[in-house]
Amino acid sequence: MKSLIDILNLSTDEIDELIRTAISISDNPEKYSDICRGKTLANLFFEPSTRTRMSIESAMYSLGGNVINMNDQSTSSASKGESLSDTIRVVSSYVDILAIRHPSEGAGLLASEFSSVPVINAGDGGHCHPTQTLADLLTIYREKGSFDGLTIGFCGDLKYGRTVHSLIKALLRYEDVKIYLISPEELVLPSYLKDYMKELGNSYIETISLEEAIPNLDVLYMTRIQKERFQDIKTYENLKDVYILKKENLNLAKDNLSIMHPLPRVNEISIEVDDDPRACYFKQVLNGKYMRMALIIKLLSLYEKTASDKETANHNNIGSNKEIISNEKIDSDFKCKNPHCITNHERGLKGKYEITDGKKQCVYCEYEEDIS
Ligand code: NCD
Repeated sequence: MKSLIDILNLSTDEIDELIRTAISISDNPEKYSDICRGKTLANLFFEPSTRTRMSIESAMYSLGGNVINMNDQSTSSASKGESLSDTIRVVSSYVDILAIRHPSEGAGLLASEFSSVPVINAGDGGHCHPTQTLADLLTIYREKGSFDGLTIGFCGDLKYGRTVHSLIKALLRYEDVKIYLISPEELVLPSYLKDYMKELGNSYIETISLEEAIPNLDVLYMTRIQKERFQDIKTYENLKDVYILKKENLNLAKDNLSIMHPLPRVNEISIEVDDDPRACYFKQVLNGKYMRMALIIKLLSLYEKTASDKETANHNNIGSNKEIISNEKIDSDFKCKNPHCITNHERGLKGKYEITDGKKQCVYCEYEEDIS
């Protein structure tokens, strides 16, 4: 049984297969409209969400399946003190697949350890958000035709922006991808992700200046400053409008730049940019639904019900195939130092770590700790 907890759970071939299936779905939705008949998905959202929850729900309905929702914590057993693992054991016995969003980092992985059905991680705190990455990859593929050789700028909250974390991991697998990390010092990318980049020999440039980076970019990925992750509201207030993409910034950009944003937008892209042909952020929304449909079909092993597996098998790779080898995982009495890690919130859960480059890395949230 396969779950999608981290984008690296999918090989590059599987991502290719999902992209081709999603395109086939968008060209021919009737072919897929009954494929999940008799199947039920549970949406377990422990954090606010509009688009991701509705996207997953609408994906399941468009495949002919059913959805049950638990989206208000105050009326669920979590409010009575039930552990996440118990909730997952119970809910997974009602359904065929479940999607979870949770404020603790690593909650998706924990859910997959206790679920009897495939799990989709729909966002675990500031850690990762692999289904948004699928939406983003389909958008980039449709706009650019390939991933290899692209220069991509990530701008805004790179510290807590989980969509950024997952998309960077995915892009690292393709050849010659150059990454600009555009953020204030307080919101730089977590070090474990910079380490991945170094490990795979990818080049990245860190800057605080959007103006400086923009002329070089093929894709600009703007993000919201993640207010809900700040301990101190004053820091958020100081940083919230640090980047606002305006029409005049685009004078410096390439004619074929693709401007992306996972949404919701607050202030970081001014509304006047929406009419620019380079704006792709509303296209990402529908691409997200198609990719989630393709993902549900895959995780429920329903490919054989469509011709798409045969179609996809005969295609060449969309990008090159740099797989990431995972290290041996060590069970122990390890205590993760990240206060947002699920291991610090779930009763009785033992920490697990792996050693990478002289550092202990938590298996649940990927937080790194020096052991030298
Ligand atoms: C993102 C998220 O939840 O991380 N939204 C989404 O899923 N489309 C981005 C955000 O909230 O800023």
